[in-house]
Amino acid sequence: MAAAVASQRRYHSTEAAYVLPNDAVEQERLDAQAAAIVEMIGGRPVLAPIEHFPRISKAVDVGCGTGIATLQIADLTRPSATIYGLDLSPIPERVLKIAPSNVVWATGNVLDVEKPAAGQVDDIFAPNSLDYIFGRMLFLGINDWTRYFATAARSLSSGGIIEHQDLDWVFYRAGTSERLNTNWDWHHRVVAAAHKAGLSTTAGSGAASLMKDAGLEIISVQTFEFSFVPSRKTPNSISMGKYVMEKLVPNYPELLRKMLGGAEGVSGDDLDRLSKQALADIQSEEGIHQKYTVTVARKP
Ligand SMILES: C[S@@+](CC[C@H](N)C(=O)[O-])C[C@H]1O[C@@H](n2cnc3c(N)ncnc32)[C@H](O)[C@@H]1O
Repeated sequence: MAAAVASQRRYHSTEAAYVLPNDAVEQERLDAQAAAIVEMIGGRPVLAPIEHFPRISKAVDVGCGTGIATLQIADLTRPSATIYGLDLSPIPERVLKIAPSNVVWATGNVLDVEKPAAGQVDDIFAPNSLDYIFGRMLFLGINDWTRYFATAARSLSSGGIIEHQDLDWVFYRAGTSERLNTNWDWHHRVVAAAHKAGLSTTAGSGAASLMKDAGLEIISVQTFEFSFVPSRKTPNSISMGKYVMEKLVPNYPELLRKMLGGAEGVSGDDLDRLSKQALADIQSEEGIHQKYTVTVARKP
């Protein structure tokens, strides 16, 4: 009955859709995930060659989490550039201490731009002002992707770049596009709950088309296997598989509780049963993975 027990975790105090916690355990998970993502996509945190864009004077890492990519973007760009790290929750103290002076941290919801609650978010996303927008793993936080990319397109300077890295909530066999989740009850319910909350289950593969609709020109789309179980078939994702088993799998019951409890009303034995099914399914074979897509686009 573990899944039915009230949560001991700490969450973002905001009206935003985001369901994951923001406590020390989560911050450690995010840093481990960031390292595994960098290895999975070839050793760089970003795929746009931003160190060769001398014109970057203002950039933002949207939903920056612990700020790990914000610092890496600051390293790759000129010290005179202003790099914003924006999140619903404040950045951990240990990161504030080591950040260079050109990094500016901001707390807020990117979807609040031009709303009364916007505050500092309006300054970050002022029209034609940003040269680079980075966003990674926002699929549980953005519940209006049309608005998100419209905001991005409006705030980019002409020639400015957006890079979006995200997951689709579909499970595949290693090295293939063969779907494994067709008959998974828990998965159907999570997808239905996500859609009801306005979230996308194709935040990775769907980005290019939404960016085009927002008037952006696609430069590149690259897809990687975000492995849940390590496989020799995808050597760059072996660390990802280890990270998932050590840090993500233990958090899955809590994620399901947040997504299927509340509005969906699943609790007690039902929730326990679905959690057990989920844990078995997501580890059911070597190389089982979700697709991770990196999309880079430019404002004409
Ligand atoms: C899964 S974490 C990824 C963190 C970071 N991008 C990374 O890859 O390490 C998602 C982060 O986005 C933030 N977030 C979610 N929705 C947001 C929103 N609407 N506006 C600003 N931040 C948001 C969350 O607070 C969380 O820290």
